[in-house]
Amino acid sequence: MAFLNDNYLKLKAGYLFPEIGRRVKAFTEANPDAAKRLIRCGIGDVTEPLPPAVIAALHKAVDEMGERSTFRGYGPEQGHDFLRAAIAQNDYRAHGLDVADDEIFVSDGSKCDCGAILDILGDRNVVAISDPVYPVYVDTNVMVGHTGDADANGAYAGLVYLPCTAQNGFIPEPPKEHADVIYLCSPNNPTGAAATRAQLEAWVSYALAHKAVILFDAAYEAYISEPGIPHSIYEIPGARECAIEFRSFSKNGGFTGTRCAFTVVPKTLHATTAGGESKPLHPLWNRRMSTKFNGVSYIVQRAAEALYSPEGKQQVRGLIEHYMGNAKVLVAGAKAAGLTVFGGVNAPYIWVGTPAGHTSWQAFDKILGEANVVITPGSGFGSKGEGWFRVSAFNSRANAEEVARRIQALKW
Ligand code: MLT
Repeated sequence: MAFLNDNYLKLKAGYLFPEIGRRVKAFTEANPDAAKRLIRCGIGDVTEPLPPAVIAALHKAVDEMGERSTFRGYGPEQGHDFLRAAIAQNDYRAHGLDVADDEIFVSDGSKCDCGAILDILGDRNVVAISDPVYPVYVDTNVMVGHTGDADANGAYAGLVYLPCTAQNGFIPEPPKEHADVIYLCSPNNPTGAAATRAQLEAWVSYALAHKAVILFDAAYEAYISEPGIPHSIYEIPGARECAIEFRSFSKNGGFTGTRCAFTVVPKTLHATTAGGESKPLHPLWNRRMSTKFNGVSYIVQRAAEALYSPEGKQQVRGLIEHYMGNAKVLVAGAKAAGLTVFGGVNAPYIWVGTPAGHTSWQAFDKILGEANVVITPGSGFGSKGEGWFRVSAFNSRANAEEVARRIQALKW
């Protein structure tokens, strides 16, 4: 008899985005005319083509793979040296941050790494997670048995929830109680809020005092537009002793379908063994990657490297400006409709209050049914997301303008 992982049975019916997909499919099948004018602002998936520098690098790498003399088989599981060096140099050392090439681990996505990191952390940790939040943090903890059951609001027993509300600008403060592992996402998915230096300093000092590890998801770092907002947790003194950082090429280079990301595990970061000894996490992550991962394809790593070339950097800036231009249009449209709006300044997400009397899913159904626009209901990101919805700015400018018009035309 084979036993299944009972923890999976605690999960709510479906992962948020497939659930939205299911509802949209049912709607479009039942309403073929509305389906023709459907605009998707739900999942944060890029819409613009890969930058030309990336396309050139892909072609070149493909040609290399077609020649015996330049063909590559298995690469290093941690990533090719050329990409690890480009990342460490451009994203960290060029900004005065002390990160070594071999502290960078290249992977096929931050979502995967956010889940996989639990392999190297123990089961006794008290885990603190923002609410609302990118659902992967909660669900992966449920899957490995770090929680009890969910209550009626979908909150899991055993997790420390950090409420993110309009009152705290959607950035959580360190809790009064103890936590061992803390998930922070800045700029934030879904709210678009970005933590200030002082807010991150408070978290780093909390983590150092509690010997906790911060899992810092910076997938939207490239969208920061306000000066002074940290782009990396390592801008905060002490973070090398308490934080792991996740970054992705999905949203800056348009790699959602191409797949490449990286995780920074400083060699100075320690955690405690069951016997009370302090040990570095870097060798554990290295071991985990060597055992469970065979690396990102050579072709894709060359493509990611091209994002750091002068042309690549300029083309990435162009993509970010395009999506943030959409964000401005969407913010203006939602404000003109009299809605409460956050985000859209340091992130490609607009966080909008549902008009009184509407739950997030009711707003989803109304916006889908009447405006034929797909958004993401805030309650799908956690119970504190109830009463909000998220609009993604990943789209063409024409679609963003049309969505802004349709939102203004809605009668609530
Ligand atoms: C989102 O829409 O929240 C993101 O696209 C999900 C992701 O990046 O995995």
